[in-house]
Amino acid sequence: MTASAPLATIVTGSSRGIGKAIAEALAAAGHRLLLVARDDAALAAIASDLRARGAKAATCALDLRDENAAAAAVAAARAAFGRVDVVISNAGTAPSDKVENTNQADLHEAFDLHVGAPLAFARATAADFKQQGSGCLVHLASTAGLRGYPFTSAYTAAKHGMVGLARALHAELGPAGVRVYAVCPGFVDTSITRRAAAAIAARGKITADVALQRMGAQNRIGRMHSPEEVAAAVAQLLRDRPAGCVYDLDRDPPAFVD
Ligand SMILES: NC(=O)c1ccc[n+]([C@@H]2O[C@H](COP(=O)([O-])OP(=O)(O)OC[C@H]3O[C@@H](n4cnc5c(N)ncnc54)[C@H](OP(=O)(O)O)[C@@H]3O)[C@@H](O)[C@H]2O)c1
Repeated sequence: MTASAPLATIVTGSSRGIGKAIAEALAAAGHRLLLVARDDAALAAIASDLRARGAKAATCALDLRDENAAAAAVAAARAAFGRVDVVISNAGTAPSDKVENTNQADLHEAFDLHVGAPLAFARATAADFKQQGSGCLVHLASTAGLRGYPFTSAYTAAKHGMVGLARALHAELGPAGVRVYAVCPGFVDTSITRRAAAAIAARGKITADVALQRMGAQNRIGRMHSPEEVAAAVAQLLRDRPAGCVYDLDRDPPAFVD
């Protein structure tokens, strides 16, 4: 990455939630953006809004469970901007159920999205990044990649895999000048958590608002993160390029952990 050229950055899962907030923060920081998710119309609306604010933004609608999707996104970014400097692997889902209802298909789905897609992005960019002696891969992981939560066995296993993949890539590509980060927030106020709160409320014992408050209280910082707060942390890592790998946001202040 050079100081003079605006960075060309792919943000997956940028049709809403944390990914949208990351795209907005990086657009403000001068990145050229390729927005990736399945919802073409939502991506187009966000890209149009970013362009209206003076940013360069293109879109690529893909299902990242498809093994070839990452390579297609990298090709689209190269076509739009001539290069790729950063990939933010943020796309994800967080189904919640007891272990008796969790099967191989649930596990495969979680691993395809949270581990397979980031690995495919690394595969598609590693040769160029090593040749450039720069480049950055960011995995939007979770504290579920650092510790266990109930009713999320497939998700928690996949997020541990996502953090482990970041550690392996950091060890392999770091010596060539490539930065690899696993960013680990606790509960964040997005549609994932609001859907979970609504499901808890549907069981009739507490309201969705109380369920959201209890989720926030499970974070070590004692409250829910905002998507903008997570986006600001990602933007700071990309700006300052610190040497660590696994960045726990559920600490005050956030810190790299072993
Ligand atoms: N919310 C939390 O409490 C929390 C906490 C820690 C970590 N995280 C992680 O943060 C990331 C973003 O979560 P969020 O809370 O912002 O969720 P969200 O609001 O539901 O957004 C998820 C994003 O991922 C995209 N996506 C989902 N499946 C996809 C697929 N198969 N192919 C391509 N894109 C796909 C969605 O777009 P389309 O539907 O348009 O495809 C959407 O843009 C996830 O990896 C999640 O695990 C969330």
